[in-house]
Amino acid sequence: MKVGIIGCGNISETYFNCQKIFNNFEITACADINTEFANKSAEKFNIKAQSVDEILSNKDIDLIINLTIPSAHKEIIIRSLNAGKHCFSEKPLAMNMKEGREIEKLSNEKNLYVGCAPDTFLGSAGQNARKLIEENKIGKIVLGTFNLMSHGMEDWHPNPDFFFKPGAGPVFDVGVYYLTQLINLIGPVKSISSISGTATPERTITSEPRNGEKIIVETPTTLMGSLEFHNSAKIQFFCSWDVWKHKHSTIELYGLDGSMIVPDPNFFSGDILISKKEQDWQTINNDSMLLGIPNKTDNDGTKIANYRGIGLSEMIHAIHNQTHPRCSLDLSIHVLEVMEGILNSSTQKEIYHLNTNPSQPKYLSEDEIRKLKN
Ligand SMILES: NC(=O)c1ccc[n+]([C@@H]2O[C@H](COP(=O)([O-])OP(=O)(O)OC[C@H]3O[C@@H](n4cnc5c(N)ncnc54)[C@H](O)[C@@H]3O)[C@@H](O)[C@H]2O)c1
Repeated sequence: MKVGIIGCGNISETYFNCQKIFNNFEITACADINTEFANKSAEKFNIKAQSVDEILSNKDIDLIINLTIPSAHKEIIIRSLNAGKHCFSEKPLAMNMKEGREIEKLSNEKNLYVGCAPDTFLGSAGQNARKLIEENKIGKIVLGTFNLMSHGMEDWHPNPDFFFKPGAGPVFDVGVYYLTQLINLIGPVKSISSISGTATPERTITSEPRNGEKIIVETPTTLMGSLEFHNSAKIQFFCSWDVWKHKHSTIELYGLDGSMIVPDPNFFSGDILISKKEQDWQTINNDSMLLGIPNKTDNDGTKIANYRGIGLSEMIHAIHNQTHPRCSLDLSIHVLEVMEGILNSSTQKEIYHLNTNPSQPKYLSEDEIRKLKN
């Protein structure tokens, strides 16, 4: 399938490069509201730079990859659908459920697919953890925790403003990986109770080129609370960009017969720790699975697995076969409702009950992945 990218910022290079990993799409044009960015990417990847209007009316392109900032996601998805194109968007799907429902309505009317990141849950750690849970290795999951804490994004991203505006913050920007992973592992969320806070009303950028500039914080930078899942599991969470250092692990799941620690869902691989009742932890390495094989060196020199693009490739396969994709619109709308519900519960000081209840995405087998990989 021939596809085009709208939004040639920080994450776009990962998408331009992932067409080499997967075998069912080719990026033939790109656009950005800032033509300089589009021209630069077009030159680097030897494709055509177009304006947003031109790429949307480009007849050779069947799908748009939406890599704009969160506040532009809905507009670009809607415009892609109205132009007769499928769309795969970076997360979050939209700023709120009202926008999410608009996207859903148009996608149904036009009979076009909308998919959404994150796709990291399709990596080796997420899929192997899913398999271990389904094989009943720790019994029925009844409790758990997830913790994501750091001191924010103003120290590395060149344009970090959007992280502190509605549609971002620690839940919409990073929590989305944890929530999607948990729904992959134990199914959809039923209700939410939360509180929120903002440690400082202003953040100072320490990355280049805008070092020293201030950002006004317009969304909470800490959210804490609990989620009850339809399978009755209760998960406590702590999402914050106000913490310098901590020693919590990322996701811990407690079953009737044992416990499991799932690695950081922002990554495709990492070790799973599992223990039966009171026995010692056993380490399960996932690096030999297809989406766990290290293929990239991180900034600190560590070899990691980065297969961003699997969600897009799998959705294209689903379009060709008219099946339901893993990174589906109903999954991303549910995740969006959970994120909005976390904010709403904290401001309204009441339990939020979810309206959406999608099915768990199907397990992605090695055989299915092999067919999509170069
Ligand atoms: N940077 C990362 O490591 C990372 C990782 C995973 C996901 N994401 C997600 O990817 C998306 C983009 O993030 P980023 O870090 O690349 O941001 P960025 O600010 O570096 O890039 C966004 C680009 O979109 C363009 N843009 C904004 N509004 C537009 C519009 N209406 N029409 C056309 N172009 C428009 C901007 O000019 C910019 O070049 C975000 O939703 C983010 O959450 C980023």
